[in-house]
Amino acid sequence: MSVATIAELFTSGALEFGPAPESDAPARAWLAKHEGVFDHYIGGRFTAPDGGERFESVDPSTGALLARVAQGSAADIDAAVRAARNAHPAWAALSGHARARFLYALARATQRHSRFLAVLETLDNGKTIRETRDLDVPLVARHFYHHAGWAQLRDAEFPGCTPVGVVGQIIPWNFPLLMLAWKIAPALAAGNTVVLKPAEFTSLTALAFAELAHEAGLPAGVLNIVTGDGSTGKALVEHPGVDKIAFTGSTEVGREIRRATAGSGKKLSLELGGKSPFLVFDDADLDSVVEGVVDAIWFNQGQVCCAGSRLLVHEGIAADLTARLRARMEKLRVGSPLDKSMDIGAIVAPQQLERIQRLVKQGVDDGAEMWQPSWACPINGYFYPPTLFTGVSPSAMIAQVEIFGPVLVSMTFRTPAEAVALANNTPYGLAASVWTENINLALDIAPRIKAGVVWVNSSNLFDASVGFGGYRESGFGREGGREGMYEYLHAPAIPRVESHGARGGASAAHAAQGAERPVIDRTPKLFIGGKQVRPDAGGSRRIESPSGALLGEVAEGNRKDIRNAVEAAHAASGWPRTSGHARAQVLYYIAENLGARASELAARIASMTGEDGAREVEASLSRLFTYAAWADKFDGAVHDPSIRGVALAMHEPMGVIGIAAPNDSPLLGLVSLVAPAIAMGNTVVAIPSECASLVATDLYSVLETSDVPAGAVNIVTGPKDVLAMVLAEHDDVSAMWYHGAAGTCAAVERASASNMKRTLVESAPLDWFHSRAEGPLFLREATQVKNIWIPYGE
Ligand code: NAI
Repeated sequence: MSVATIAELFTSGALEFGPAPESDAPARAWLAKHEGVFDHYIGGRFTAPDGGERFESVDPSTGALLARVAQGSAADIDAAVRAARNAHPAWAALSGHARARFLYALARATQRHSRFLAVLETLDNGKTIRETRDLDVPLVARHFYHHAGWAQLRDAEFPGCTPVGVVGQIIPWNFPLLMLAWKIAPALAAGNTVVLKPAEFTSLTALAFAELAHEAGLPAGVLNIVTGDGSTGKALVEHPGVDKIAFTGSTEVGREIRRATAGSGKKLSLELGGKSPFLVFDDADLDSVVEGVVDAIWFNQGQVCCAGSRLLVHEGIAADLTARLRARMEKLRVGSPLDKSMDIGAIVAPQQLERIQRLVKQGVDDGAEMWQPSWACPINGYFYPPTLFTGVSPSAMIAQVEIFGPVLVSMTFRTPAEAVALANNTPYGLAASVWTENINLALDIAPRIKAGVVWVNSSNLFDASVGFGGYRESGFGREGGREGMYEYLHAPAIPRVESHGARGGASAAHAAQGAERPVIDRTPKLFIGGKQVRPDAGGSRRIESPSGALLGEVAEGNRKDIRNAVEAAHAASGWPRTSGHARAQVLYYIAENLGARASELAARIASMTGEDGAREVEASLSRLFTYAAWADKFDGAVHDPSIRGVALAMHEPMGVIGIAAPNDSPLLGLVSLVAPAIAMGNTVVAIPSECASLVATDLYSVLETSDVPAGAVNIVTGPKDVLAMVLAEHDDVSAMWYHGAAGTCAAVERASASNMKRTLVESAPLDWFHSRAEGPLFLREATQVKNIWIPYGE
């Protein structure tokens, strides 16, 4: 008998993996203790569902029944919202330190029960124990620790901010306990109470967590868990007693939620789908790239919103990388998720498996080349092998649609510019991964990719200190870090005033003065692309004094004019790239030129509104100085996440912002909105006060002489609400700020769902003279945070 050397054993393939199962005993014991039947957790008690209905939760790796879980009805949601409402005053009144102690206790409880939670999560979701044990549960604990810190520091770090109130949270099934932590920790730290609905496939760890929270002494009603399906989620979204909805899930449902909450005044954050690019340049370390791809798309069976599902490879190395990937895929192991040596577990549910199978078939039918390893998946349970498509056209369905499975599509590029264009060729914008040994190239590419997170030479890194969330149709709002806390806080309110509809409150003298002024004969125009242009329809509208005298006319803009203005705003692509210093210079220059015409503008305002025009001009000059000051000071941050490396949190402009200015304070209101937008590098299409827009047309020549690049600021006068809706519906507008009628506020929010643009709407007339009507509140709306992760070391 010949004895093989160790080297021979390694190369011959004779060394087989033995089974290395993690014991499921503690999780099974917990299920048995509950006899496999679970209730909601409402007001500090486990409560049977109102209608007595329950649904089954199964182990996706075997299809075996795990438990029967309560189906939440509208009545259950109502009971939970009431419990949260009742608990809110006392919870909000606690000191930050007291809330910090509770969050600390939740972190400790998670750690004490980490193995139990990891096993239960694996049983319920089908993800491997290696991931639940080493990633999900440790990150849950990390999140509660980090937010114990924010609870402690809230009053010092967010002065004047107040909790939002009762928060409704809806989470998906791909990271059940981690998404729960991402939702609950900041909400409780900020002083809110919560009603959380887990996903119907994966309710169990949320219920186990409710028990831990109960044992930790969390006051009754502060955390409520109502299980159920989409109809339960819908009831939560629609409940009038909820002050904010935080949702993670599909873009489709996110859109529905945006529409359902429009006009309700509910704060909203949406973390939606993605089709994230994974860019590999020809100088990248290909062995690392292969492991990076494994993390990007085969982690969690590819059921990850930020999965690197589009591999974009420099043409010269594509064949080499494909060969290496296939070799690695051949060695991946799919099977029992409780086995510690498995790489890939089960798909969460048969519906999801069918969806993956259908999309892969479509890819094959469309002519892309599909490759899968030679081995077969287990036949019991819902498994799917790692899959690689090559020869994929960028417009192919599999290159555009979120497959949410272990399926990678690969395309090639020749130049960095082409790589960026391909990367951005998606309506999504959640994450991206950039692989190159050239740090200059990496840091040049990262800001050009439209995504909330960019990983340099790494993938799928997460940390509680680093905000996570998307651009474009991947949603808005961030989870984690300082910016995540703002999602659960109200900034100090800007005082409201009684509306004058831009007139009234007029001193008799002012009104008389306005009425006596002769009609100003001017050609009514719009300001688009740096030029004064005639309106498409050739019409104009009268602007009158409070007593009804004709003061002048302004152009009647229409849909076509708005579209032209949006195009011009897009064309001003140099403005977002100018430095903060350069933008400050332009804002100061606008102020200088406005100041030179102060008395003329003051008289104009007085004639239209009957108000003190000089005071308004003075306040507008000060506001311009404020945003000139901020232009080079609203810095991002460098985070110190739990890896060897840093994450650069960059404030990036939103893009094109549509602004419909308030009717009152026609100059100050307009300046208060346009100035922060352009200070942060956005370009703007502004619709001024409808009844007092003459003063906005006076701005044209100010803008023309102040070095504002053509297209950076566009002004379209006319029927404000009609024009605002065109902007709200426009898919090339990234954000919409509307001040005006409550009905239009709701309509703007509803219309924004088409491309998930961020909205800021206000129906109450605000005191624009107040110091709170300026500053970071507006700068945060004018920016989105991109986190660029840069690991250190070889
Ligand atoms: P989904 O978006 O329907 O479900 C997410 C959560 O929303 C669940 O808790 C669900 O019960 C709830 N929900 C469903 N309809 C609702 C409604 N009308 N109002 C309020 N809540 C509602 O996602 P689903 O059906 O589980 O997965 C479908 C696809 O969505 C996946 O294949 C994947 O492409 C995407 N997805 C993306 C996720 C992400 O993290 N970006 C997470 C889960 C799914």
